Amino acid sequence: MDKTFHITTFGCQMNEHDSEIMAGMLLERGYRQEKERKDANIEIINTCSVRENADKRFFGTLGQLKRRHEKDPDFVVCVCGCMMQQQRIIDQLKAKYPWVDLIFGTHNISRMPDLLENVLSRRDQEIEIWDGGREIVEGLPARRLFRSKAFVNITFGCNNFCTYCIVPYTRGRERSRAPEEILKEICGLAADGVKEVTLLGQNVNSYRGTYEDPATKDRAADRSADYDYCSFSHLIRLIAEIDGIERIRFMTSHPKDLSDELIRTFANTPKLCHNIHLPVQSGSDRILKRMNRHYDREKYLGLVEKLRRAVPDMTISTDIIVGFPGETEEDFEDTLDIVRRVRYDSAFTFLYSIRKGTPAAEYEDQIPEEVKHERFNRLVELVDQISAEKNAAYEGTVRQVLVEGRSKRSRGSLSGRTDGFKLVNFPADPKNLPEEVRGDARTVQEMEDRLTGHFVNVKITKGKTFSLEGQIVSAN
Ligand code: SAH
Ligand code: SF4
Ligand code: F3S
Repeated sequence: MDKTFHITTFGCQMNEHDSEIMAGMLLERGYRQEKERKDANIEIINTCSVRENADKRFFGTLGQLKRRHEKDPDFVVCVCGCMMQQQRIIDQLKAKYPWVDLIFGTHNISRMPDLLENVLSRRDQEIEIWDGGREIVEGLPARRLFRSKAFVNITFGCNNFCTYCIVPYTRGRERSRAPEEILKEICGLAADGVKEVTLLGQNVNSYRGTYEDPATKDRAADRSADYDYCSFSHLIRLIAEIDGIERIRFMTSHPKDLSDELIRTFANTPKLCHNIHLPVQSGSDRILKRMNRHYDREKYLGLVEKLRRAVPDMTISTDIIVGFPGETEEDFEDTLDIVRRVRYDSAFTFLYSIRKGTPAAEYEDQIPEEVKHERFNRLVELVDQISAEKNAAYEGTVRQVLVEGRSKRSRGSLSGRTDGFKLVNFPADPKNLPEEVRGDARTVQEMEDRLTGHFVNVKITKGKTFSLEGQIVSAN
């Protein structure tokens, strides 16, 4: 049988990158990746548990796949990702979806190709979920989504146990990858033409990597205090020394672990982009405490001030939850107030929703849906207004953009990101471009091939709420 696969990915960059790794491993074994689900005979669904109605949507998707499975018994369905780390989901899959061929968790992606081979030879349901322990499997290939930029895991799991969040239960305890392994991977990416790396982890600034002892080949346990270890800032400085890597980003930072050392690293490391995602979650001290976030509004605002003092053009984005249990109108006003004070470039806004198994799910003072929605709408209006004002201030300036490829919004345009992570769309019809930029390209496709992965200077003509528009003025 012709082995073709398609991956549907939900959730965060961690999941996006796991999908890249699964694709890399399968391509190495001679499978082909399809862009459309209908063209593939193996469908892989990489799930997320964070979003509202995640279960409902997941089982809805399975319902659609079931019809195809009934018609075509050779069609293979694999499910993986964070939802598979929840026992009740596994129980439900076993009881009601026995036709699902392969179920595996977030800790054992490296085993996926072997498990799939078992399925293809035997066609029994395979289930493999580990609690993972502290093991990190190194050296997995990845099929990158972009030519010029790549995601690199530096930590796995989370120890913070925010009271609303399921991630510590689905991804396990925090583990840091060894610095040598991270540097080796990034050197390989640089050799492959990658210019921008995004370091990934649920809380990257608590990264604490241990070096291998050259004599014994031992590695100290991640957190031993008396061992020479690599801090997050130090790791960034090491990465900045790699030739070919021009931009370094990271996601996500927890305000409680944002050190002065890291703020100095922003100021002293030109390759570290001037952008930070710093989830605030709420502007109310009372709610922050109940969320178990370990900072208050004063500490958060102090961090923002320090960041802006060190790097005046820093762009800042955030995550905010509306309607956490017990949130009063006054608490919510504090959230609006902190948004007005910080003036975020962008914000992901979430309606609080119950995750079974987390402490906040048990709180009695849940907020009625209509109150949550009403607050949510007010918040989004404010956030969008500020984003639009911030983006309008870019009009008339020239920005350096790393071209990522064809624009998703407008045909005939390319898109890329500024150092501050603003998405910029710009027309790429060679007829209208300076000769120095167009070279001998005659079509938009040829322009795309020519510029993807390269820096161009774009004059911003319009700042919209979620993106900028511009015209290329020169290439670097
Ligand atoms: N590790 C990252 C976030 C991971 S989850 C961090 O700490 O910043 C991404 C976002 O989903 C969170 O920042 C939070 O805003 C939101 N989120 C998580 N659980 C939620 C829940 N139960 N209800 C609503 N939003 C939630
Ligand atoms: Fe969840 Fe909090 Fe960990 Fe982020 S820091 S993953 S919100 S528990
Ligand atoms: Fe979702 Fe798992 Fe990421 S729950 S947000 S995919 S860590």
